[in-house]
Amino acid sequence: MRKPAFVCKEKPTCVCKEPVGACKEIPHIYVRNPAYACKETIHIASQNADVIILLLAMLVPLRYTTCVLRTSISSAGKWKRTTNFVLENGNEGVLSLFWSSSSAEGKEDMMQYEHENLVKRLARLTSASVSGDYNPHTRFEWPESLSDDQLWMSRELLSVYDTTLIEQLSEQQLRQLSKWESINFYSLNIHGIRELLVEVSKRLHAPGYEVLAEFFHRFLGEENDHMWFFAQFCLRYGRKVYPDKSIKFPVSEEFSDPDTESFLIFSRILIFEELVDHFNICMGKDAALHPLIRQINAVHHEDESRHIAGGREIVKSLYAKLASILSREKLDALGTYLKNYMTASVESLYNPSVYRDAGLPDPFKCRNEIVKLPARRERHRKFTHRTVSFLNKIDGIVEQGFVP
Ligand SMILES: [Fe+2]
Ligand SMILES: [Fe+2]
Repeated sequence: MRKPAFVCKEKPTCVCKEPVGACKEIPHIYVRNPAYACKETIHIASQNADVIILLLAMLVPLRYTTCVLRTSISSAGKWKRTTNFVLENGNEGVLSLFWSSSSAEGKEDMMQYEHENLVKRLARLTSASVSGDYNPHTRFEWPESLSDDQLWMSRELLSVYDTTLIEQLSEQQLRQLSKWESINFYSLNIHGIRELLVEVSKRLHAPGYEVLAEFFHRFLGEENDHMWFFAQFCLRYGRKVYPDKSIKFPVSEEFSDPDTESFLIFSRILIFEELVDHFNICMGKDAALHPLIRQINAVHHEDESRHIAGGREIVKSLYAKLASILSREKLDALGTYLKNYMTASVESLYNPSVYRDAGLPDPFKCRNEIVKLPARRERHRKFTHRTVSFLNKIDGIVEQGFVP
């Protein structure tokens, strides 16, 4: 691995080396060389697109043996051009160039390029969905009943985990609680899916969403299947679906223009899917759970990994449009809305009706006492850190340290 020449003062976490070749006019060049991966990343920051293009033209033939140029808008709303490269010493890496262009023509080119990329990525996800197609009616074997003498939800996902309450419960009480918390979790899924089916359907083949139609068709089909198998589980083994008592988040007047509304709706879908996915990943491989519970969670995770990948692309692309037209104040207000939504989503995991069904005394007091505990907030951080980190990379719309 190449040794760094000096440490960059502008970005202390990066390791720098001097500009190469005849490109000394580039104001800033640095190499990040993480020890955990045999990759090098060179970032070159310049405000001048011509300099960057010149640099690329000179660097690529001289120093790099491979080059595939990709251009996109970075999460900070600046243009980004990326190329993979292999150095003479065999090290591989990615060269990322950031710049702002004031030329309208340049912006249009970039938008077009970004749009084509989005279409390609969604087409790949759609074809993966088609080739992984399954029939939910034959995919699972539903046993007559599930025993109450086992956990129905992973221990570390229970709302009482890491509280003194869990120590006061007998193993039998804990299993009862896990049963009703799992019914609550699948019920929340059912209600969340109903909302996203409505919102995505409204945009299917609607103006501006033409290129998303194939992805949306697969998405809607899969979500319909998910809703069906979650409802089967609740009704077969819990004899009910918990009613939807979630706080509603109507999009207010100030966000009612179609692009802003769509950004909030798709961000909400993403937040909801990523939260659920954290639970699916954990339960899908928890050997303590019944095979059916593992299977339902694993199957859902498989589909959701595509929805999340596509959802992230859609959210980024919707934000790129807004970033150039909305004031900073309004963009910050979008972040506040999403943080409130994230908090409400996490808090819906604490359902007093669950505590009542599990036979715990004073269910409302129980909920209010545990939901704000520091140890529980630490669990919330684990549930949402992926999403917070993604939203933070979109222009810092949510701060990195945010915990619902
Ligand atoms: Fe789903
Ligand atoms: Fe989904």
